[in-house]
Amino acid sequence: MRILVTGGTGYIGSHTVLSLQEAGHEVVAIDNLVNSSEESLRRVAGLSGKAAVFHRVDLVDESAIDAVFAAHPIDAVIHFAGLKAVGESVREPLRYYHNNLTGTLNLLRVMDRHGVRSIVFSSSATVYGEHNPSPYLEKMEIGANNPYGRTKEQIEDILTDLGAADSRWRIALLRYFNPVGAHPSGLIGEDPQGIPNNLVPFIAQVAVGRREKLMVFGGDYDTPDGTCQRDYIHVVDLAQGHVAALDFVAEKPGVFRWNLGSGKGSSVLEVLRSFEKAVGRPLPYEVTGRRPGDLPAFWADASLALADLGWSTTRTVDQMCEDHWRWQKNNPHGYNT
Ligand code: UD1
Repeated sequence: MRILVTGGTGYIGSHTVLSLQEAGHEVVAIDNLVNSSEESLRRVAGLSGKAAVFHRVDLVDESAIDAVFAAHPIDAVIHFAGLKAVGESVREPLRYYHNNLTGTLNLLRVMDRHGVRSIVFSSSATVYGEHNPSPYLEKMEIGANNPYGRTKEQIEDILTDLGAADSRWRIALLRYFNPVGAHPSGLIGEDPQGIPNNLVPFIAQVAVGRREKLMVFGGDYDTPDGTCQRDYIHVVDLAQGHVAALDFVAEKPGVFRWNLGSGKGSSVLEVLRSFEKAVGRPLPYEVTGRRPGDLPAFWADASLALADLGWSTTRTVDQMCEDHWRWQKNNPHGYNT
């Protein structure tokens, strides 16, 4: 198939482009490059031996999306493009709603006009909100607690309504847990701009000397070691989950939801210890106050993806840290190195 990947130069996008090419698909990638670099796709081409077509397109520009569909016979779309920082979304809700929702609506309208009705959407475990106990199950009632999370939830609603209105649509809603790690080559990985919001990119920058120490947000949670637990998933496992979801919806129209997680929680200190093992030395940290909005612990029930897609995670937290570290060590300043 020829797959359009929105957000194709980003962290999960670039790893998924590679997995798609390895599975024999052709890729057309689009991105507005606000938070990523085209260098990621040059490196993916080096790994796969196949260049993805790239167009710099912002999804808020509907005519630009139309031009891409007019130029390439697209079979299905994987939709990653979106703003994704929780704190920023609280400060700038209009920017988040405009970018994420308008961009998606434009994309869906163009797809419909061109008769392309297969889409895999990049959702998040954040849609489960605060009220659900772990492990999270796809059938639970969702309800996010910040503007970023609500854009994911609202896009799920839009896609669900679309699937109900027109049975030709094939829709996969993938709820990611905490993606970390990098391709084992160390050539592609996560390259956050500014101060990283997320745990593993922050630890990696401490390890490479770009930050002084890790601040552990809260040591007094009701968890085994007092720090929060999350379900970390290797980005290559995650990328392969997209290929599996695409194969599934190619066979079956409808709207489907799958958790992409390992089914296991790890604490902040456990991840730090794994990263230290990868680096081969202790890393400085300080336990500080809780981060507003953080939940003590959550993880996936990952059994539905296994049953439907035959997909499950295969890579451990140690492997995530080893691969993340290889990428960071070889590229201390990301793609600008
Ligand atoms: C965060 C978002 C989530 C989003 C996901 C995308 C919040 C509250 N949640 O998830 O909505 O879908 O990123 O990847 O922002 N930690 C530290 N020190 C740090 C950074 C993080 O101790 O410098 C801790 C956090 O308190 C948390 C854990 O590490 O317990 C993981 O944090 P993070 O990587 O930001 O992921 P989430 O908060 O789970």
